[in-house]
Amino acid sequence: MSSERVPVELCKGINGLEKVVLREVRGSSAEVYLYGGQVTSWKNDHGEELLFVSSKAIFKPPKAIRGGIPICFPQFGNHGSLEQHGFARNRVWSIDIDPPPFPTNTSSRAFIDLILKPSEEDMKIWPHRWCSFFNTCLSGNNDGQTHCFCLSEFYLSIIVSICSYEFRLRVALGPGGDLMLTSRIRNTSTEGKPLTFTFAYHTYFSVSDISEVRVEGLETLDYLDNLQNKERFTEQGDAITFESEVDKIYVSTPTKIAILDHEKKRTFVIRKDGLPDAVVWNPWDKKAKAMADFGDDEYKHMLCVEAAAVEKPITLKPGEEWRGRQELSAVPSSYCSGQLDPQKVLQCS
Ligand code: BG6
Repeated sequence: MSSERVPVELCKGINGLEKVVLREVRGSSAEVYLYGGQVTSWKNDHGEELLFVSSKAIFKPPKAIRGGIPICFPQFGNHGSLEQHGFARNRVWSIDIDPPPFPTNTSSRAFIDLILKPSEEDMKIWPHRWCSFFNTCLSGNNDGQTHCFCLSEFYLSIIVSICSYEFRLRVALGPGGDLMLTSRIRNTSTEGKPLTFTFAYHTYFSVSDISEVRVEGLETLDYLDNLQNKERFTEQGDAITFESEVDKIYVSTPTKIAILDHEKKRTFVIRKDGLPDAVVWNPWDKKAKAMADFGDDEYKHMLCVEAAAVEKPITLKPGEEWRGRQELSAVPSSYCSGQLDPQKVLQCS
């Protein structure tokens, strides 16, 4: 009878993949898969799902889960030599049982700390080309294989310590049901090697009807258009609305962006820190049909607005740490147009 709400629970999700369920006392909840360190559900205290996950999403490595909040790291998109959006979204993360102290105090008990440490396989492809080269030479298929293999293993372990990094992610539900993601990436290289990466929280918001949605906070900003060879343009006019495919990287954006869903009478407010850019993506009908893990009509019910650091990659010296934070809230849409302060949003009904 007692509907006891355990704040943090580890259980099995789809296809037996491990997931963590977060529950806040007033009823909101979130789910995080260890595969990808990926949030796949965020519900308000009425149990309404706020994120989009495709009905065709494949919860099976190595395919990234289509929806929720994939983490794009160490590369956003195809801005580099790695696979699209990097590899963090298709690695299995671990629960970080002893994270370093967290600067922001939260009264909520509904949070989880995850960690992604590079495997030796990961070190072959990133961060340093010479690591990959070194490894290829050492593991070559020549005579004296055993000797060579031992050398390879030995040097790989050295390489891991020379070039390494740690990625810590905290996912937390605030007392009002806000969803907070904080990433801390540290360059743990022992040999003075810098670490350079791009990053995004690739958030898929659930919307009632994309043609009834508008985004505020990006007006008049410059963007790189992925549909036009990343050429730079300046956004014109009012809030952004949608009537065809969109794939734009807005640069140097304000720290608050709002998504107004008129039909649902709901506004999402994104607050971000350490993430200067914002990617806006909707595949529309043609691209939707081309994606195996996405329903043909599902583009109508989702919108990605992605807090990101893309235009200017982040570079960390050894020992340095970078922090990128995104806070999401969903408020009733008596939202006043042009007003991005969530407090005022609530007062203006
Ligand atoms: C967006 C990119 O962030 O992600 C798009 O800007 C890309 O170019 C989209 O198509 C989806 O990427 P993926 O790899 O998850 O299919």
